[in-house]
Amino acid sequence: GATRYYTFNVTMQNVTRLCTTRAIPTVNGKFPGPKIVTREGDRVVVKVVNNVKDNVTIHWHGVRQLRTGWSDGPAYVTQCPIRTGQSYVYNFTITGQRGTLLWHAHVSWMRATLYGPIVILPKRGVPYPFPVKPYKEVPIIFGEWFKTDPEAIIAQALKTGAGPNVSDAFTINGLPGPLYNCSSKDTFKLKVQPGKWYLLRLINAALNEDLFFSIANHTLTVVDVDAAYVKPFHADVVLITPGQTTNVLLRAEPDAGCPAATHLMLARPYSTGQPGTFDNTTVAAVLEYAPPGHIKSLPLLRPPLPTLNDTAFAANYSAKLRSLATPEYPANVPRGVDRSFFFTVGLGTNPCPANRTCQGPNGSMFTASMNNVSFGMPTTALLQAHYSNIAGVYATDFPAAPLEAFNYTGTPPNNTHVSNGTKVVELQYNTSVEVVLQGTSILGAESHPLHLHGFDFFVVGQGFGNYDSSKDPAKFNLVDPVQRNTVGVPAAGWVAIRFFADNPGVWFMHCHLEVHTSWGLKMAWVVNDGPLPEQKLMPPPADLPKC
Ligand code: C2O
Repeated sequence: GATRYYTFNVTMQNVTRLCTTRAIPTVNGKFPGPKIVTREGDRVVVKVVNNVKDNVTIHWHGVRQLRTGWSDGPAYVTQCPIRTGQSYVYNFTITGQRGTLLWHAHVSWMRATLYGPIVILPKRGVPYPFPVKPYKEVPIIFGEWFKTDPEAIIAQALKTGAGPNVSDAFTINGLPGPLYNCSSKDTFKLKVQPGKWYLLRLINAALNEDLFFSIANHTLTVVDVDAAYVKPFHADVVLITPGQTTNVLLRAEPDAGCPAATHLMLARPYSTGQPGTFDNTTVAAVLEYAPPGHIKSLPLLRPPLPTLNDTAFAANYSAKLRSLATPEYPANVPRGVDRSFFFTVGLGTNPCPANRTCQGPNGSMFTASMNNVSFGMPTTALLQAHYSNIAGVYATDFPAAPLEAFNYTGTPPNNTHVSNGTKVVELQYNTSVEVVLQGTSILGAESHPLHLHGFDFFVVGQGFGNYDSSKDPAKFNLVDPVQRNTVGVPAAGWVAIRFFADNPGVWFMHCHLEVHTSWGLKMAWVVNDGPLPEQKLMPPPADLPKC
């Protein structure tokens, strides 16, 4: 493969949206940030230079980072942050992945503005596994725009124990679109030619919302999620959680009755949370057919979208996702399981510290946890502690099952307090792992997009209610389950995932709703080296930032 070099200069840039201007962290002054274009098998080398006052790290979300955990990016997990005036070179190879991923900052809430697409083309000469050749490929990246500094919003929320303010708009390629105040000019337009095929690379980089996406009078064909091909299927609406990516084919076919009509593309949240705790506004972009020019007088066609809390739609949509599972693209699903885990995923509370007034439920602080443990960030990177045997940074007693068992989708227990700790699970190299992720109804049944670093896992089962270990495994799909890096744990339900722990290092797993990560819905896996040289974590690079 080739080597692709990039320089990411992180600088503040004034950007105006919704009639207000704010200085935001950007890469090379661009918002959204630059696109990384690579091929399967290529090496990617990115020098990140920090020219802002806050600490920076960049995560290459979904890139497997085989043996190169030092380049994964989450602050205090695989590296200490890059300080002001310093730089760090991320260096990794794309192995066994093709499709779309994203890069984003991975420290505090900096990813609110610091994000961009990663396009992974197939190896040179290898065609796409679908029968049409796209005329054009277009990234469509969803984000959230805040009129005030997102860092101040989360700092305030953590201080008061309340929920953070929601964003002021969703964006498509950085633009809010005509349904928001004074944003008609800030509308993404995709000019298309009738009869041609387009490959849209959808990326949800929003901080805190799952999204529905649809284009008026057009059917989409889903062909790839999280840089893994899927069996193509038609969808009028796509559901995409933060951290997920979806490649869809679009055939440009203008409205027969009114060929020059403007077709809107819309995205709006899928949320089962309390109304008012999320932004339920709609971002619009435009599919524009030639001849343009007299757009304003023509009808605007709007696609219908599911209701905000359409859990049944979410379950049906996820069930359609299947890996190709062909000889060229086999699904290497673990058939047996060496280590099996049951993790509850949900919100909780912490007592309000003395001398403070908290605004969470019943005067408590909001928190979030897996197995009743809310993860506390260390001050030394976990990967350094693992590699250099530094004691006292983390404990290896993360519980394999909840500390407190109850009816997860029924009435929550009286005591919703969680314990705090920096706890990990240690795995031997190449262990086959199964994790059942069970949503809880504490403070409301909510869907959680769980993201695992360092691996693509198979989603072998999903269901509503409480997981039943005596019945549910019989229904698992071990033939063509979808392979991905982020999965929506259904509201009032569960998913089961499997993977081989064939990547030595320390790998973060967390909810990709950033507020839940801030509240502690995160943990890490420590995967030990295997016996062979090619099964060992590479040594740290010389420029690895110090804490
Ligand atoms: Cu896209 Cu740990 O995150």
